Amino acid sequence: MGLEDVQRRFDRKLAKEGVHILRDANQWKVREDVFDEVTLLALYRFVQKKLITVVGGPISTGKEANVFYAEAGDRALALKIYMMRTANFKAMMDYIDGDPRFSGIRRSRKEIIFVWTRKEYANLSRARDAGVPVPEPIAFDRNILIMEFLGKDGQAFPPLKYAEGVDYAATYAAIVNFMKLLYSKANLVHADLSEFNILYGDRPYLIDFGQAVTRDHPGMVQFLERDVHNVTRFFSQHCDVLEERMLLMEIIQEKPTQVDAITE
Ligand SMILES: Nc1ncnc2c1ncn2[C@@H]1O[C@H](COP(=O)(O)OP(=O)(O)O)[C@@H](O)[C@H]1O
Ligand SMILES: [Mg+2]
Repeated sequence: MGLEDVQRRFDRKLAKEGVHILRDANQWKVREDVFDEVTLLALYRFVQKKLITVVGGPISTGKEANVFYAEAGDRALALKIYMMRTANFKAMMDYIDGDPRFSGIRRSRKEIIFVWTRKEYANLSRARDAGVPVPEPIAFDRNILIMEFLGKDGQAFPPLKYAEGVDYAATYAAIVNFMKLLYSKANLVHADLSEFNILYGDRPYLIDFGQAVTRDHPGMVQFLERDVHNVTRFFSQHCDVLEERMLLMEIIQEKPTQVDAITE
């Protein structure tokens, strides 16, 4: 059975469940790239469990994942769907190997993506438990992660890179504190921290945790140095910042402190 048949069947099933799919020309294009059989099946299972009642349009179409707007009842959600076809399996393995939580897994290409999705879910949970503002992880299945939608009136908060009216000094202080909390409380290093993976709304949020690793990962120091470098590079264009070495020391050595109101 071709993919189009599967999609048609899927649409009929969804219609029977009363799920309403919003479509536009742009979304059709995305659907072809993203919604392979594995994805449709995982999506369908979420629908059956009523974890999703509305599937909306794409919020972001990246190289390895696409993020869609969705709803469950009146709750706004973001669906992050990792693409089976374009995933960079080798790069993914660098962040899976060495993390004791995910060692000893089967390593077919499919399995790597499924582990990656589970890893992002686990990382978001840990970060959240440590008090770092991240989207609340709600569920995962195969290559799909469901999380809280960060935005207002269906409009996602912009990445810090494109945000307007930013209080940079306060945001820098908040991000430094988030890095400390991640390191000392969640035992995690984000490993892809930059102005693109910070959403700026009513407060700053960290997103995109698939590659985040525990502190015992052998590449941890290098990942942390890179995060420190990216954060320093960006904020130094807008406000006073610590020297990279100082920031690194502060994250590694000191207990996190509540810097100010926006970090609460
Ligand atoms: N929970 C969310 N709520 C709202 N928008 C989100 C959420 N998660 C991701 N996005 C949007 O999707 C984009 C890509 O998500 P991200 O997790 O960074 O994936 P990628 O691996 O493609 O960078 C983000 O820049 C943001 O615009
Ligand atoms: Mg990202």
